[in-house]
Amino acid sequence: MSAEDNKRRAARAALDWLDDARIIGVGTGSTVNHFIEALGDIRSRLDGAVSSSEASGRRLKALGIPVLDLNSAGELPVYVDGADQANRHLQLIKGGGGALTREKIVAAVSRQFVCIVDDSKLTQVLGSFPLPVEVIPMARSYVARELVKLGGRPDWRQGFVTDNGNHILDVHGLTILDPPALEAEINQIAGVVTVGIFARRPADVLLVGHADKVETIRS
Ligand code: 5RP
Repeated sequence: MSAEDNKRRAARAALDWLDDARIIGVGTGSTVNHFIEALGDIRSRLDGAVSSSEASGRRLKALGIPVLDLNSAGELPVYVDGADQANRHLQLIKGGGGALTREKIVAAVSRQFVCIVDDSKLTQVLGSFPLPVEVIPMARSYVARELVKLGGRPDWRQGFVTDNGNHILDVHGLTILDPPALEAEINQIAGVVTVGIFARRPADVLLVGHADKVETIRS
């Protein structure tokens, strides 16, 4: 069984967490793409979705699922998204696909955040996946210097511009022992739009796709 099969298994399991929601939040990435594909089977139950990226929005529209503006959708019952790393406290690193800021916004307005990953993403300590930080372009060098002071090795994701028109620094070499504290500290740096640590608002449910099962970890 490949990681891709495990992603698909976790993604399909997320359908069971939608209950009777008619509007849902949908994240970004290859695992979420499997979830969007699975939504095709139940699209008549949905009035629409709020998407965390232009890319997922296009996929949803291609299935005939209306993409709604979050400002008019209000609070969402459920948000389904992937992660680059997750621990058993349901704290995450996200932003490998560069959609972290919109993902954090959609997670914040959702009552239930269901995170879907394959088992290679599960870790005891976050940080071996380079931590994405979205920055205002003019602040990139300043923020990078501040991140070095925190013990990281920031690497500019050159040629990549977020849906919000900003840049990404991928920070290598961090061992994140206190995710909520580091999340707050990095978010305080002038010029940071958001950091890809999701610990102050972690997932509520983590669905981990293994070769033979989907493991459910709840808060
Ligand atoms: C995008 C994300 C994704 O959820 C994360 O990168 C996981 O992606 P994939 O499912 O392709 O492994 O945070 O910004």
